[in-house]
Amino acid sequence: MKELILLLLILYYPFCHSLDTITLNHSIKDGDVLVSSDRGTFALGFFTLHPDSKTRYLGIWYNKISEQTIVWVANRDTPLNDNSSVLSIKNGNLVLHSNNNLNPVWSSNVSTSFVNASAKLLDTGNFILTHNNNVVWQSFDSPSNTLLPFMKLGLDRKTGLNRFLTSWKSPNDPRTGNLTYRIDPTGFPQLFLYRNKIPIWRTGSWTGQRWSGVPEMTPIFIFNVTFVNNKDEISIEYNVKDPNVLSRMVLEEPGQVRRLTWQPNEHRWFQIWHGPKEECDNFKQCGSNSNCDPYNAEKFECECFPGYEPKFGREWYLRDGSGGCVRKGNASMCRSGEGFVKVARVKVPDSSKARVNGSLGLRECREECLGDCSCVAYTSENESSESGCVTWHGDMEDTRSYTQLGQDLYVRVDKHELAMYAKHSYGSLGKKGLVAVLVICTCLVLSIAIILISWLVKARKQWTRRKDHKYSFRLTFDDSSDQQEFESTNSSNLPFYDLNSIASATDNFSMANKLGQGGFGSVYKGILSNGMAIAVKRLSKYSGQGVEEFKNEVVLISKLQHRNLVRILGCCIQGEEKMLIYEYLPNKSLDFFIFDKSKSSELDWRKRFDIICGIARGILYLHHDSRLRIIHRDLKASNVLLDNALNPKIADFGMARMFGGDQIEAVTNRVVGTYGYMSPEYAMEGQFSVKSDVYSFGVLLLEIITGKKNSGHHEDIASTNLVGHIWDLWKEGTTMKIVDRSLGESFSEVEVERCIQIGLLCVQDYAVDRPSMSAVVSMLGNDSTLPIPKQPAFSFKKSNCESSNPSTSEGIYSVNNVSMTMIEAR
Ligand SMILES: *[C@@H]1O[C@H](CO)[C@@H](O)[C@H](O)[C@H]1NC(C)=O
Ligand SMILES: *[C@@H]1O[C@H](CO)[C@@H](O)[C@H](O)[C@H]1NC(C)=O
Ligand SMILES: *[C@@H]1O[C@H](CO)[C@@H](O)[C@H](O)[C@H]1NC(C)=O
Ligand SMILES: *[C@@H]1O[C@H](CO)[C@@H](O)[C@H](O)[C@H]1NC(C)=O
Ligand SMILES: *[C@@H]1O[C@H](CO)[C@@H](O)[C@H](O)[C@H]1NC(C)=O
Ligand SMILES: *[C@@H]1O[C@H](CO)[C@@H](O)[C@H](O)[C@H]1NC(C)=O
Ligand SMILES: *[C@@H]1O[C@H](CO)[C@@H](O)[C@H](O)[C@H]1NC(C)=O
Ligand SMILES: *[C@@H]1O[C@H](CO)[C@@H](O)[C@H](O)[C@H]1NC(C)=O
Ligand SMILES: *[C@@H]1O[C@H](CO)[C@@H](O)[C@H](O)[C@H]1NC(C)=O
Repeated sequence: MKELILLLLILYYPFCHSLDTITLNHSIKDGDVLVSSDRGTFALGFFTLHPDSKTRYLGIWYNKISEQTIVWVANRDTPLNDNSSVLSIKNGNLVLHSNNNLNPVWSSNVSTSFVNASAKLLDTGNFILTHNNNVVWQSFDSPSNTLLPFMKLGLDRKTGLNRFLTSWKSPNDPRTGNLTYRIDPTGFPQLFLYRNKIPIWRTGSWTGQRWSGVPEMTPIFIFNVTFVNNKDEISIEYNVKDPNVLSRMVLEEPGQVRRLTWQPNEHRWFQIWHGPKEECDNFKQCGSNSNCDPYNAEKFECECFPGYEPKFGREWYLRDGSGGCVRKGNASMCRSGEGFVKVARVKVPDSSKARVNGSLGLRECREECLGDCSCVAYTSENESSESGCVTWHGDMEDTRSYTQLGQDLYVRVDKHELAMYAKHSYGSLGKKGLVAVLVICTCLVLSIAIILISWLVKARKQWTRRKDHKYSFRLTFDDSSDQQEFESTNSSNLPFYDLNSIASATDNFSMANKLGQGGFGSVYKGILSNGMAIAVKRLSKYSGQGVEEFKNEVVLISKLQHRNLVRILGCCIQGEEKMLIYEYLPNKSLDFFIFDKSKSSELDWRKRFDIICGIARGILYLHHDSRLRIIHRDLKASNVLLDNALNPKIADFGMARMFGGDQIEAVTNRVVGTYGYMSPEYAMEGQFSVKSDVYSFGVLLLEIITGKKNSGHHEDIASTNLVGHIWDLWKEGTTMKIVDRSLGESFSEVEVERCIQIGLLCVQDYAVDRPSMSAVVSMLGNDSTLPIPKQPAFSFKKSNCESSNPSTSEGIYSVNNVSMTMIEAR
């Protein structure tokens, strides 16, 4: 009897105390869990992935969050069929037995021995087996599809153990899938994503701070990344600095690596990074010796390296670059006056056959490559210190370029090619080359001198005429991070206007000069003493929150220059006053035309199509072409101004977010924007990306064609909103019904139809399905076949947001009209 009670006590002990340890005498059976001690972050036990499923697994999950999130599975390929299983320690091994079967379903499979063995679940999520306090096995050494902080990805060179991620078959099936994400240690080590052992994406080699193919991986403050490459190991760890932050990287079908962090307030996982992203990320998309440039909307994305030409000209012409490029010309490449041409901002070529010499600097690296006739290209091993030397020999594979933050690659070219690239060349110059450079330099010096002199003459004339006190200044903000951003990325100074000249230009901010009123202040028209018309955005003194937006806008917009963006002329900060000075656009905003029956006939189809294309190009510039990646976040008809010739200019960057190229997506607690233009993931989850702007653009495009507001009340349509209605018509093939009547006969049905389809592609429910802005620009510019849109997100049902997430819905509904709208000019 005594023994029975003791047995019961032992069996149930884990239940009462949530142990974190298994010993010889304490095993766990189905229903029991181990909880990691200290913080109780992780739990280990038996689970099922579907309530109706009989299939059970042993694994580890996050203990304190509401959403079941499995991070490790022991018996992923040998599921349990009932709830009678037991995990225990036998002969020094962890063994999982089912239904009293003698053969274990799963085992830690280390050499068997009789020792003092115990297994413990740590608060990092690592489950360790110790023999006499030495770790002999750990779950971190056999990862499933998830990389946790403090877990190593990579190779232990001493034991040969390579830790890598393997996908699940599907979200409900943890069996070993086809994808792996692993470090390949050959040559200069690289990280690869493989499908069935065939590379599909190359994250690239380590540049000293990041992977060559992940330029957005600039230091992010919540992580501490440790990369090790020495004789003992090659590995990477992404650790979190704050143990309260839950973050994981997961490999999933259909071929995505995603970084997610838990948002405790919203009770969800948010994606903060993912890859691969674009066609150019596909392994060897453009064949050998060529570069893939995704930002080239008009031209074909594949481009041969300097000194190379397409192997199959015809295929290349038909936009198939997979044949790659071969050397052109037949000049000698060996000590015959050859040199190097820089290919800037790229993911450097596949380095599995590259050679590395860590003790050389960039200059010696060049000499090393030049002296070796088989060397075709070189770069630094460490990007930021320009130390170490990597050289390529033979064909170069899988290179792509970035708008910013790529690595520079120096490609060997013969002397003829070198002469052509002389201006950019770092190569050794022959006598002829030297003469050419001298001639060019002389011309340059002369033309600079001429420009300088004429400019001085002009400036002198202007100086004597000028009355507005205009001088340069450097902004200083309290927020040190903002200041860093500003100084590091913007060395050009923004003109500064003084308060007196602005006050007199606007007649002391008179009501008669007021153009509009927004949540952050008012907009006035003004005439400077030189006769120039300006628009002045005066920040309300009392809107505390507006100060942030003001700073944001100044920093952002001063860096932007594009004919489809409104131009900033300067700003004014004096005491409490904060103002932005813009070019004045007499035609007001787009909404004023398209939603007004009496004005809408002024915009015929040609004009509207030009406006659509102009807006698209403006957004493309924000997303890809400016030095920073900018997400506008508040695109709408009232934020598109029209100049004299009715060319569109995107305005109001108060909400915009700047991405130093690091993040591609972000999450915000404060959802700003305008009801009707917000993408579902942004409105519901606060997650914004370039694709949320694409969504807003799609709505705007459909509004321009139909002359109807998406969020407006329409007597004549049955659906909840315009987008939903157009989707219904599109399915029926009757979209012509909704085209703005005031277009009359001015349009081509085929063209309008095509535009509507592009609009529907932009408002698709899932951000991944929506085209990028460069794809949109190219679709608008040619007659290529368009993809078939999927059902759009038109479920902006108020009840939905209100019940599920009060903070978000407050965000949505309090923001109507917060941004500036130009009303009535006088
Ligand atoms: C565990 O069980 C063994 C016998 O199986 C016994 O000798 C030992 O004292 C037990 N240890 C604990 C801590 O109960
Ligand atoms: C185990 O499964 C049986 C039948 O499949 C069920 O009756 C029983 O309640 C289960 N026990 C536990 C602890 O879940
Ligand atoms: C244990 O390891 C041996 C070789 O080390 C292997 O043959 C065997 O399949 C492994 N067993 C399990 C259950 O993993
Ligand atoms: C076995 O290890 C545990 C902790 O790991 C320790 O408390 C215990 O004293 C050890 N027992 C023996 C017999 O060494
Ligand atoms: C994995 O690859 C196999 C063989 O190529 C294929 O049959 C299977 O459908 C693939 N599974 C997934 C989930 O893609
Ligand atoms: C690369 O250079 C930077 C700057 O000198 C240095 O901080 C960093 O540790 C170097 N990285 C490696 C891997 O050597
Ligand atoms: C980052 O990690 C390294 C090595 O793991 C450690 O030495 C360093 O203290 C960490 N830094 C921070 C800020 O956590
Ligand atoms: C290749 O070399 C031959 C002579 O060796 C020369 O006649 C010919 O013009 C060269 N072709 C090119 C493209 O340089
Ligand atoms: C690196 O270059 C230096 C200088 O040329 C040379 O002495 C050294 O042997 C090289 N190291 C390797 C590993 O090739």
